[in-house]
Amino acid sequence: MIIIFFGAPGVGKGTQAALFAERMGFGHLSTGEALRNAIAAQTDIGKLAKQIVDEGKLVSDDIVTKIVEETLAQPKFQAGTILDGYPRTIGQATALADILHAKGQSVAVVVNITVDQETLVQRLLARGRKDDNEETIRARFAVYENETAPLLDFYAKTPNLIKTIDGEADVETVYSRVKIAVEGK
Ligand code: AP5
Repeated sequence: MIIIFFGAPGVGKGTQAALFAERMGFGHLSTGEALRNAIAAQTDIGKLAKQIVDEGKLVSDDIVTKIVEETLAQPKFQAGTILDGYPRTIGQATALADILHAKGQSVAVVVNITVDQETLVQRLLARGRKDDNEETIRARFAVYENETAPLLDFYAKTPNLIKTIDGEADVETVYSRVKIAVEGK
């Protein structure tokens, strides 16, 4: 089963994806975390990605899709796959469809988490990751609106694929909403 956790910066994609993967025994791929690890390890990809991530822009489709392709080949992703923060552009969504098609698979559900934007700013400022300063947060929201949110139209072409849930509640309440959304598939 392939599940996409979708939504603006700070809606709780990573929090919910980690919980869901642990409880269901699924593989969890966060492209943001993979990039932060590459930056910390100063790999070639990390060196290319550092400034882009610091500015809240998107790393190229080719780089992230390569990360996704390599990660999905790992055995722990056979039981189920949670994609957190990928795809983020139409190019990435098309690449993902091709990768899955080659394995005879397709996306089972897009869990679209929504939270009021001012709540998100407060959550991110409170977390304080390197890209959680006010300027970069605004840049990340703009990128989300311009490049990522249009993916909802892309996935809406498949009837019943998108499940939209309210992410403005405590973590376990949101989790139960995610679970209902996925079980409905
Ligand atoms: P990424 O790491 O994916 O960042 P993001 O999408 O901005 O998402 P966040 O991690 O900020 O938020 P989240 O929705 O996962 O929420 P979280 O659970 O962490 O990407 C970072 C960067 O990498 C991008 O800007 C880009 O440069 C690059 N990148 C990544 N993927 C890419 C791609 N596919 N293509 C190109 N570039 C890519 O929660 C946020 C905070 O809220 C936490 O402190 C958490 O504890 C708290 N919280 C969570 N749930 C709740 C709740 N229910 N109530 C209260 N607080 C909560």
